[in-house]
Amino acid sequence: MADGDDMLHLLRTTRAIRRFTDEPLTDDELWAVLDAAQHGPSGGNIQPWQFLVLTDGDAKAAVAAVYRRAYDRYETALLAGLPPFRTPEAEASFHRSVRASRHLAEHLQEAPAIVCVLVPDGLDLTMHDDEGPLDIGHPCASVYPAVQNLLVAARALGIGGTLTTVARVEHDDLRSAAGIPDRYGLAALVPLGRPRGEFSQPVRRPVDAVTHWNAWGEKRARP
Ligand SMILES: Cc1cc2nc3c(=O)[nH]c(=O)nc-3n(C[C@H](O)[C@H](O)[C@H](O)COP(=O)(O)O)c2cc1C
Repeated sequence: MADGDDMLHLLRTTRAIRRFTDEPLTDDELWAVLDAAQHGPSGGNIQPWQFLVLTDGDAKAAVAAVYRRAYDRYETALLAGLPPFRTPEAEASFHRSVRASRHLAEHLQEAPAIVCVLVPDGLDLTMHDDEGPLDIGHPCASVYPAVQNLLVAARALGIGGTLTTVARVEHDDLRSAAGIPDRYGLAALVPLGRPRGEFSQPVRRPVDAVTHWNAWGEKRARP
C-alpha cells in the first residue's frame, strides 16, 4: 500500500506521456486502471461514461488515422496564431510539447492501448425550478475525474498516458472509425503504454501564485 508521500509523488509525476515502448499491457493492468477510473466521482453518482478499449492493431490504426488528420488541422491553426512568449523557456517548453504531441499523432497506432472515454451526446444535468435553469456546471465535470483516476492508476503501475481531446476535430469520422454509436460522443482519447523515458515532475506555476486565503487577493507565503 502506498503511503502518503508515495501517493503525492505519483500525483506530481502523473504528466503527459506520449512516447511508448512497444511492450504490451497486460489485461490485469488494463482492468486495474479501468477499475480506478470507474471509482471516479460524478454528479449524483450518475457515472455517465463508457470505455472503448482498443488493443487490436487494425482498430488502433483506424482511429490513429483520424487522430492524425485532426491533429494536423489543429497544429496548423495553433502555429498560425501564436501569441508572443513571455520567456525563452516558455517558448522552448511550448515547442517541446508540440513536438511530443506531433510524435503521438504520428505514432498513435503504436500505443499498446487506446482508451476512448465516451459520454452520452447532449448529456445535460441541468435541473429547472420556477426561476429557470439551475446551472450546476459543465456536464464534463462528471467525466474527467474518472479520466484522471485512470491516468494516476496507470502511473502507479509504471504506465504512462495523456488525456487528449483533439480527435473531436474529426468527431464524426472518429465515431465511424471506432464504431462508436451515434448517441455517444468522445470525451477523451487516452493512449496508454510504458514510457520510453522516465516519469518526471512537470513545470507548473507555484501554488501561492494561484491561491487566495479567505478573501480574493489575500496571499500567504508557502512555509
Ligand atoms: C482537456 C485536455 C485536452 C488535451 N488534449 C490533448 C491532445 O489532443 N493531444 C495531446 O497530445 N495532448 C493533449 N493534452 C495534454 C496536455 O497538452 C498536457 O496535459 C499539458 O501540456 C501538460 O503536460 P505535462 O503534464 O507533461 O506538463 C490535453 C490535456 C487536457 C487536460
